[in-house]
Amino acid sequence: MQPQVDVKNQVADLILGELKHNAIIQSSYVWALDHGIPHHTVIGVLKSLEAKCIASIEQKTFIITELTQQGLDVLQNGSPEALLWKQIGNRQLSPAECSQLLSHMKEETVKAIISSGIKLNYFTVDKSSKAISRKNQEIVDAIREQCQQVSCGKQIDKKDFDYLKRRQYVVQKSITEYLIKPGDKISEYGIAYDTDITEEMLRSGSWKTANFKEYNFLAMGSKILGGSLHPLLKIREEIRMIFLTLGFEEMPTNQFVDSSFWNFDALFQPQFHPARDLHDTFFIEDPAETHAHPADYVLQVKDIHEKGGFGSLGYRYEWKEKESQKNVLRTHTTATSIRMIYALAQEYKKTGKFTPKKYFSIDRVFRNEATDQTHLAEFHQCEGLIVDYNLTLRDLIGTLKSYYERQGLENLQFKPTYNPYTEPSMEIYAFHPKLKKYVEIGNSGMFRPEVLKPAGIPDGVRVIAWGLSLERPAMIKYEVQDIRSLIGPEVPYDFIRSNPICRINK
Ligand code: PHE
Repeated sequence: MQPQVDVKNQVADLILGELKHNAIIQSSYVWALDHGIPHHTVIGVLKSLEAKCIASIEQKTFIITELTQQGLDVLQNGSPEALLWKQIGNRQLSPAECSQLLSHMKEETVKAIISSGIKLNYFTVDKSSKAISRKNQEIVDAIREQCQQVSCGKQIDKKDFDYLKRRQYVVQKSITEYLIKPGDKISEYGIAYDTDITEEMLRSGSWKTANFKEYNFLAMGSKILGGSLHPLLKIREEIRMIFLTLGFEEMPTNQFVDSSFWNFDALFQPQFHPARDLHDTFFIEDPAETHAHPADYVLQVKDIHEKGGFGSLGYRYEWKEKESQKNVLRTHTTATSIRMIYALAQEYKKTGKFTPKKYFSIDRVFRNEATDQTHLAEFHQCEGLIVDYNLTLRDLIGTLKSYYERQGLENLQFKPTYNPYTEPSMEIYAFHPKLKKYVEIGNSGMFRPEVLKPAGIPDGVRVIAWGLSLERPAMIKYEVQDIRSLIGPEVPYDFIRSNPICRINK
């Protein structure tokens, strides 16, 4: 790097030295030739001087004529006409013999050279035998001289020039060059300004005579690099505020690992359900099992799976406690919801009093999925539930409306779906004005008696609940097409730094 910078500085010094004397340099191209410096180097220097207003430049174009490789060959060794003249000597040669002398050339080229030599008075042709011989004992190599003149930048006769062009001894090129004049700030060239007052300057008093650079009030300030919140954290905060203003309490979801019992069994998800497969769920190797489940509750759950009860037929298979003890990375935060429901029922058992609750959580869940544009193996779920007497599907729909309205989503549509733990269950859709289509924004339902009764929830108390990934609204809000550029190792660093504050529906 360094030598390059040195060359540029030297070129700049030379140019400015001349500008100070002559006030103008007509042609950067000629100047570069005169100084033996590549023109592109000179142009680079001029552009940077112009940017600093030290030089002002005007672009011009002109055509130059240059010798080609063949032209240079003629300049060095002579024209083929003159070479042929030499080789013929005092002989008389047929055209075929001439061709042999110039065997590296094409037949037509040899013909053209002979006829050009005749015009130049080098050769004569015997009319009857067609034999070729020297016309003069001395010649001047005119074509070589023309090449010589072109190489010096001199003009030659148009007819001669056309011949050189036809023989491909010369080419013409358009050259962009610059006229160079002093710029407004030429006097500042080479001045080293002081930019800061140093302790040393204050001590020695040299600040009084120091040459300070003027303030540039139009310059952009340097970016302040503080910490930045990830967009998911921003949107999480917004959604958290929505839940809090609606009177929901946050659930303690601070555990990524849970047992299959809480994640599946207590939620009436049968042990043969495909979601409990290795392909869908991450199982934990160490510690592989949890044994600390409430014994009476385990029996209740076993019964409801095997035999049913509370009006249900159950699944009628052999429920294995061992299977329920397997630890997993929780596949949904509903594992915490059922823990909370169970705790409420325990409280009721102890006190005989049931307290209605509204709970929510926003936390991470894990699924053994192949990742693509819209799927990740770990993502965040927002979950809300209300536990109260006599709740109906209307209450669920009404709650969802007021919850989503606060996120700017109206005209919700519902579609029946299936969850092992809710009945009825509904997928929730909203019209997305930017994408101009309905997008799925959640899954919801009313908890089944098969979930609530074994937990000990009193008669008449129902649970309405819904869940949604946090990434979905974030992708919509930040117009991210690929979920992998929102979370994970491929997130562009600048995206985190520069994304705006999040205002849902404001
Ligand atoms: N647990 C469901 C899911 O993972 C969401 C849900 C929560 C559905 C509560 C109904 C009730 O998609």
